[in-house]
Amino acid sequence: MKANTVIDKNTADRILKEMPFKDIGEASIREIVKLANRLEEESGVKFLRMEMGVPGLKVSDIALEAEIKAFKDGYAAKYAPIQGIQPLKNEISRFVKNFLDIDISPDYCFATVGSAQGSTALFMVANRTDRNKRGVLFIDPGFPVQKLQIKVLGYDYDSFDVFNYRGSKLRKKLEELIIERRISSILYSNPNNPTWISFTDEELKIIGELATKHNVIVIEDLAYFGMDFRKDYSKPGEPPYQPTVAKYTDNWTMLISSSKAFSYAGQRVGMMVISEKVFNWRFPDLKRFYATDQFGHSLIYNALYILSAGVSHTPQYGLAALLKAVNDGEYNYRDDVIEYGKRAKAMKKIFSDNGFKLVYDNDLGEPVADGFYFTVSYPGMTGSELLHNLLYYGISAIALQTTGSERTEGLRACVSQIGEDLLPELERRLKLFHENFSDL
Ligand SMILES: Cc1ncc(COP(=O)(O)O)c(C=O)c1O
Repeated sequence: MKANTVIDKNTADRILKEMPFKDIGEASIREIVKLANRLEEESGVKFLRMEMGVPGLKVSDIALEAEIKAFKDGYAAKYAPIQGIQPLKNEISRFVKNFLDIDISPDYCFATVGSAQGSTALFMVANRTDRNKRGVLFIDPGFPVQKLQIKVLGYDYDSFDVFNYRGSKLRKKLEELIIERRISSILYSNPNNPTWISFTDEELKIIGELATKHNVIVIEDLAYFGMDFRKDYSKPGEPPYQPTVAKYTDNWTMLISSSKAFSYAGQRVGMMVISEKVFNWRFPDLKRFYATDQFGHSLIYNALYILSAGVSHTPQYGLAALLKAVNDGEYNYRDDVIEYGKRAKAMKKIFSDNGFKLVYDNDLGEPVADGFYFTVSYPGMTGSELLHNLLYYGISAIALQTTGSERTEGLRACVSQIGEDLLPELERRLKLFHENFSDL
């Protein structure tokens, strides 16, 4: 390799040594953020940041104005109701009908401090419904923070990389694991962070049927709602609808994040929707930890209560106004976020022109969609080596091994912080990288 890099190698290696992790391939998203910040400070070179899914778009004025009004109306002085403010609950219920074609009463729609809190609360209850069950099964690759939540809570989890079990192959693998590992809940994201594959109705039906058969609770993580841009799921009350397991089982819960689809990450407000059956389900073993044996009561009045005692009023009013505009057909969120799809397309081309390969390159035989993330590798390097080497070129990402992927050669790249203006610089740096490594 020639010495021609964007950041001095010795400086990069020195700072890397200061980090608490031994292998950069195991570093969490926030640790990579810290590393890239340190390298920027020390070298004066701006990093091309692909490690964290920070929404790169502006929040709609509809939400801002509603938040400001709520502030002026004096809500900052008051505790918010633990189950969420009524206007938000009503709009979540309408949203679920309009965009998933699922009927659900506002009574089963809740505000959370982001989906991050929603999954924590759900794990706290779903994993304690049956003393003979072990815990959650992650259909991976997935969002590493959820595994951290499980570890911090002291639970067990199982996971498998779904890439080799797509379509009808999913049934056998999933059923074996549910039985063998005594699974209480299943979590997956759809579209999938990090691979951007999307489960089909056939696969969701398999998950739903097995959940019903084995009394498993499904946690469907819709963090990237409507962002499989191959289809347009954004017309209220009109098909196609965002595919959901709720069509195939009553054992569903859903997390709908506002962070990405509505660029509302900073306000930490998300939606949690629980089926009527799951909410009212009684599990005697819950009484070991909760005041009642009822799933929904334990979830809202115990788990959510102890986590944050509710969600601040103003973001709830902001999100309620935004959802109302979306439900009324006055604001189409897809028109904004489709920008990520355009960026992904351009970035994938730059990567592949410079010797990189897509790791998860197809979705049941079709090219994987362009969206918020994509996965890349470089021939001859492990994921850790690639991540390390890219640091010298001022590029940061996370290793796929932290996502439960079996593909240890790969990285997850997030498109959100790479605006059009940065594409020429990405191209310049990757060209240099390729020139230096192509003789490997
Ligand atoms: C798959 C997945 N689930 C959940 C979340 C958390 O979302 P929120 O910002 O609503 O807490 C993210 C955020 O990146 C995610 O990628």
